[in-house]
Amino acid sequence: MALRFISVLSIVFIGVFCDEFIEELFIKPLPPTHLYSYFQFITTSTADELFLHSHLSPRSIGEVISRFQVEELHLTLTEGQWRHDQWGYPVFDAAPGAELYAWFNPRVKNIDKEWRRLSATLSGLFCASLNFIDNFNTITPQMALWPSGSMHSNVNATTFLRYASLPREIVCTENLTPWKKLLPCESVKGFSALLNSRMIHNTNYHSIGIHVRKVCTKDNCTDTYVEIKQTVALVYDYKIINTNNWSFRYLFGQGLPGACPLASSSKIYVDVSSNDTYPFHLSPTPDTIVTSYRGGSDIKLAIYNISMSTEMINIGAKYNSKYQIQLNMPPPLHFSRHILGYGKEFGGIVTEVVNNYWTDIDVVVLENAPWWLPIQLSSLRVNGEAKSKLVIAQYYSPGRSRQKPYHLELLLKLPPRSTTTITIDFEFVFLKWQEYPPDANHGFYIGAAIINANLPTARNYTSQPISGVTYDSIINASQPWYPALFRTNGAMVSLPTPDFSMPYNVICLACTVVALAFGPLHNICTKELVLKPSGTSLSLIQKISKMFNK
Ligand SMILES: *[C@@H]1O[C@H](CO)[C@@H](O)[C@H](O)[C@H]1NC(C)=O
Ligand SMILES: *[C@@H]1O[C@H](CO)[C@@H](O)[C@H](O)[C@H]1NC(C)=O
Ligand SMILES: *[C@@H]1O[C@H](CO)[C@@H](O)[C@H](O)[C@H]1NC(C)=O
Ligand SMILES: *[C@@H]1O[C@H](CO)[C@@H](O)[C@H](O)[C@H]1NC(C)=O
Ligand SMILES: *[C@@H]1O[C@H](CO)[C@@H](O)[C@H](O)[C@H]1NC(C)=O
Ligand SMILES: *[C@@H]1O[C@H](CO)[C@@H](O)[C@H](O)[C@H]1NC(C)=O
Ligand SMILES: *[C@@H]1O[C@H](CO)[C@@H](O)[C@H](O)[C@H]1NC(C)=O
Repeated sequence: MALRFISVLSIVFIGVFCDEFIEELFIKPLPPTHLYSYFQFITTSTADELFLHSHLSPRSIGEVISRFQVEELHLTLTEGQWRHDQWGYPVFDAAPGAELYAWFNPRVKNIDKEWRRLSATLSGLFCASLNFIDNFNTITPQMALWPSGSMHSNVNATTFLRYASLPREIVCTENLTPWKKLLPCESVKGFSALLNSRMIHNTNYHSIGIHVRKVCTKDNCTDTYVEIKQTVALVYDYKIINTNNWSFRYLFGQGLPGACPLASSSKIYVDVSSNDTYPFHLSPTPDTIVTSYRGGSDIKLAIYNISMSTEMINIGAKYNSKYQIQLNMPPPLHFSRHILGYGKEFGGIVTEVVNNYWTDIDVVVLENAPWWLPIQLSSLRVNGEAKSKLVIAQYYSPGRSRQKPYHLELLLKLPPRSTTTITIDFEFVFLKWQEYPPDANHGFYIGAAIINANLPTARNYTSQPISGVTYDSIINASQPWYPALFRTNGAMVSLPTPDFSMPYNVICLACTVVALAFGPLHNICTKELVLKPSGTSLSLIQKISKMFNK
């Protein structure tokens, strides 16, 4: 009895004091004619890993991280392309299609096996084709990815990391529904009620993600808690919605039905920095307007605290003028990628990285090519030179046919105000006929390159810092550098593809020939030739009467 009482008490205590749920929405007009809205739902739980005593954290995620001993996990499903040079930076960048990476606990013996089981489980959980992740498309990045949670202190963290991306994956409603089910208020109340799949899939860019990590509670990391961050990023185009006067009802199809009652904080941030050049009015009036001076930036944020409101809220902006093209200075670092070559024998991947800033910027560029696109290290050129002084360190892991992808990482020091071009050649290979997708002539996708940079300034930097949770804590925070992780655009190649209509043509032709040949042959073989006995000759009159009798 006493034991039961204690356990009930502990459930109450853990449940009440150790779980937290925060929802945030960040809205920012993007040049030239776009609007960015970013949702973030953070659930933290100090209860056990399985969340048995947690009333907010999703049990299914608890099962996954405890069964596969995952320390940190990032999964994103993205459609569309973020344009860094025009829009600045998103809070979380994501590769086109599906992207999954995770750090496992150092105790895990066979990481590759657990990784395959993890991706298969997540595939079922999110209705995505993550079960196509296998050794032949998985890499272990050495420099480009670093854990943000408790694994941070482990010097060998990269050993326990696995990364894979599926650029072909198409994101749709069936991925959003299970994602929403993980939230404590599902889509009944709170910001998730705005995530209406009909409106989301109409956007220029949408990305849904889940980021799970273990965070240390004390400096010496004797204890950890689990943080689950669910994100949605949407970019609307004013040209498509046909006005720049946006409102919740216009963007999401409905107003906001109050905050999620389980949330400890529900806040909406609207970036109003562009009001100086392009004035607009917000309705209703925001609770406060703060200026953030983080790392050399100067951002004005209008904040709504809607914790207590229960009525419908429809936040909107009315511009004084019709939308206009604003020319903006590109952010300190931007990049692009394209494919070189013609014919079906050789080609090349070109990645251009532009440093607009007046100091050096250190970046890590990760190129990840599938096994059917062999890239040769000997053909690597940085600004046309084989041995460039810009390359501080490099890592290359050659692929193996049907077993392992090609993986190249470069640590570069980009000089101020420069454009660095990284070129690497590849050969086209022939696949076996069953390895072609059904629409082989559509082309083959190659995943995005990853760029990890330490930005010297927080200009155009939207990300929240790794340690802080909300904007309030970072409004004036300045650091020596701002870690940022970007993805370039993906690319597409057309491999030498056999003419799949050939067998069909051959079958048709062969059948026609057989049919034409068969008829006469059949006739000859089966019909008997019989001589018709000639009867007695008729007289002329008999012949005529026979003709008339007919
Ligand atoms: C890191 O790996 C090296 C070699 O595998 C090993 O000697 C070292 O003890 C490891 N360090 C930690 C902190 O696990
Ligand atoms: C960790 O730090 C706490 C106080 O901050 C201390 O009580 C505890 O003994 C430390 N644990 C270890 C293993 O150093
Ligand atoms: C936006 O609203 C303002 C004020 O109501 C109006 O003058 C303007 O024409 C509207 N813009 C568009 C593109 O509808
Ligand atoms: C934009 O500026 C105008 C005047 O300069 C002010 O009336 C208006 O409230 C501002 N809008 C926002 C959203 O801060
Ligand atoms: C938001 O508003 C609620 C009620 O008005 C208040 O209790 C809470 O402290 C506010 N939150 C912040 C972060 O200001
Ligand atoms: C980047 O920030 C600068 C200064 O705040 C601004 O002038 C520029 O327009 C921004 N560029 C983009 C693409 O947001
Ligand atoms: C940020 O800095 C500005 C100017 O230095 C100051 O007015 C403001 O109170 C600071 N905000 C916070 C949250 O510290």
